[in-house]
Amino acid sequence: MNDLLQYFENNKKNRIHKWTHYFEIYDRYLSRFRGTAVHLLEIGVYHGGSLLMWKHYFGNQAKLFGLDINPDCRQLEEDQIKILIGDQSDRRFLESLKAQLPRIDVLIDDGSHTMKGQINTFEVLFPHISPTGVYICEDLHTSYWMDYGGGVRKSGTFIEYTKDFVDQIHAWHSEDRKRLPVSDFTRSAYALHYYDSMLVIEKRPIEQPTHRMTGVPAVPSEPLPPEISTKDKIARKVKRMKDRARSFLNPRRA
Ligand SMILES: C[S@@+](CC[C@H](N)C(=O)[O-])C[C@H]1O[C@@H](n2cnc3c(N)ncnc32)[C@H](O)[C@@H]1O
Repeated sequence: MNDLLQYFENNKKNRIHKWTHYFEIYDRYLSRFRGTAVHLLEIGVYHGGSLLMWKHYFGNQAKLFGLDINPDCRQLEEDQIKILIGDQSDRRFLESLKAQLPRIDVLIDDGSHTMKGQINTFEVLFPHISPTGVYICEDLHTSYWMDYGGGVRKSGTFIEYTKDFVDQIHAWHSEDRKRLPVSDFTRSAYALHYYDSMLVIEKRPIEQPTHRMTGVPAVPSEPLPPEISTKDKIARKVKRMKDRARSFLNPRRA
């Protein structure tokens, strides 16, 4: 049992409401911030119990921020914990947060769980997260719940919205750069981890991926899949060479 789950199971302080499989996931991506001056923003304060849990977990250098629409949450402020009041679907409010929180290393969206709230929060605050930070959105199951504007493969849900991220992290390899250009997301998202009801995005500055070969050839031939015609193979090879030359001459536009 990791320290977070242990804390949760023994909690006699303010109420925490979490799906129990989240604790293993948190620990996997957040343990590297323990004992550091991490700046964490959790959207959705509720009774403040999860902020107390983060304080215990990260230690006395951590700075913890809780955002909630409920003004009563203000009373939960204490040493290391600052409470902000506002609506996470309000893009103007979210923009104003950037000045109040110039640094956010970890963002946990456990607030309204509505499509608008999750998408607006991501669009405004993901670019603001530290370049090696972590963005977590939880309770993604609301993307399948009609009450929350969800439905299976329904356009406009947060799940459908994030499926585009899979394309974006592959944009370096796109042969149709008009439809799939290298974006700020491509350059800043290192990994997407989907779990039941939770998406974890690890940030890291990303450059054009490269590949190399080492060692010597060990078999006489290197057949390509038969589905690719000879004409296609030649055209692809020429295009790859041109792309490589272009990215070598102008790496930012590649
Ligand atoms: C699921 S609870 C948070 C649970 C808490 N993080 C925990 O782990 O114990 C959701 C919280 O989000 C808040 N909330 C709901 N809609 C919101 C919105 N639009 N903006 C900010 N907070 C919101 C609610 O007031 C509630 O306190």
